[in-house]
Amino acid sequence: MASATGDKHRHTMKTLTVLGSTGSIGTNTLDVIRRSRHQYRVYALIAGRNIDTLAAQILEFQPKVAVVATSEGLARLSQRLTELGVSKGQWPELYWGDEARIQTATAETVDTVISAIVGVAGLEATYAALRHGKRVGLANKEVLVAGGKLIMDAVRECGAELLPIDSEHNGAHQCLRAGNRSEVCKLILTASGGPFRNTPREELAFVTPERALNHPTWRMGDRITIDSATLMNKGFEVIEACWLFGFSPSQIEVVIHPQSTVHALIEYSDGSVLAQICATDMRMPIQYALTYPERSEAPVPKINWAETRHWEFHAPDPDRFPLLRLAYECQTSGGSATCTLNAADEVAVEAFLEGKIRFPSIFEVVNETLARLPVRWPQTIGEILEIDRESRSVARHLIGDRAQARSYANF
Ligand SMILES: NC(=O)c1ccc[n+]([C@@H]2O[C@H](COP(=O)([O-])OP(=O)(O)OC[C@H]3O[C@@H](n4cnc5c(N)ncnc54)[C@H](OP(=O)(O)O)[C@@H]3O)[C@@H](O)[C@H]2O)c1
Repeated sequence: MASATGDKHRHTMKTLTVLGSTGSIGTNTLDVIRRSRHQYRVYALIAGRNIDTLAAQILEFQPKVAVVATSEGLARLSQRLTELGVSKGQWPELYWGDEARIQTATAETVDTVISAIVGVAGLEATYAALRHGKRVGLANKEVLVAGGKLIMDAVRECGAELLPIDSEHNGAHQCLRAGNRSEVCKLILTASGGPFRNTPREELAFVTPERALNHPTWRMGDRITIDSATLMNKGFEVIEACWLFGFSPSQIEVVIHPQSTVHALIEYSDGSVLAQICATDMRMPIQYALTYPERSEAPVPKINWAETRHWEFHAPDPDRFPLLRLAYECQTSGGSATCTLNAADEVAVEAFLEGKIRFPSIFEVVNETLARLPVRWPQTIGEILEIDRESRSVARHLIGDRAQARSYANF
């Protein structure tokens, strides 16, 4: 007969696929798992190009399957495992590409998928996991920004569970458990304000990628860090919150809160406001998404209430951060606008990081891409990916044109 502890473990053991295991969210997810090994089995680790980190993760977590982005990456992974002295009999099954990502996200043995790939590369596998009724811990906000309607339809139709890992949405999810949805008036999302919170508008044209990557409170991947500096990230979060919780854009307010300790607030109809407060550590929301509806000890510092502290809240400046306003407009117009917003922004951020355009031009490229493409109403993931490709192509042309003109225009 199994012991009481054995029974408990049998009930709580979760089998996971981690999409984006080598990134910031992925490595934090594996740290949560590392600390509670008896509760989790890692079925698959999915990475892009970071072969060394993936190989180390394979050694430690012994997944059944590992997937990389390209066939060249697969060859490098095989070589790396050989160098590390892992005998072939001990290797996981190794694959590369989109189809393999989908297979690991939908495998029958998997109950929970952590969606932590950056950008639309994670869209198809996340959608497929939801269509198979899995629990998805969602960090990859671009999934909802690009394909919100299809994603939420899949959740409803297939009995899947979508639990937000983005700290603000995770905070809102927690606050919403306190009352009826019909009694909620407003969601308030906080934003750190990024590294240029106090930078005068004239200076923004001269900020370097290094300065923009130096986020004051969070250590994250490059794209989300630049998106935090432009407040595009907060705009994506407004869109994400509309889909996750059924808000209209006008019911969501963004406030700058440089301390990043209050993550979200929910205002109820009687004027009561509930806040979710926690140290800035992504392992808390990741663990919440894994253990919900239960809670357990998390490896996150507790707030010391006896310490003197000063929490500020103020409105963002729409002139210095126009991408936030654009996100509201795109979500209000609906259809493919948010997909184009995400695609154009990703291309513009890349160009900024490569020194091809200046910081304020991220907005200009995104705005102009939106103006050039008609809004459509995609019905399939394939159509979303087509709109994504088209939007990227328009954004790249705009960047190319401007880079050419840069020698004689102040771009
Ligand atoms: N970091 C945070 O604190 C945070 C907070 C809230 C939400 N998010 C969201 O979570 C997502 C991940 O963010 P992050 O900060 O963890 O980003 P990151 O550190 O850049 O990691 C991105 C992950 O995606 C993988 N990847 C990229 N392209 C891929 C492809 N074509 N195929 C397979 N894997 C691919 C990367 O693999 P390789 O490294 O192996 O190339 C890496 O594992 C983003 O959507 C972000 O907005 C992050």
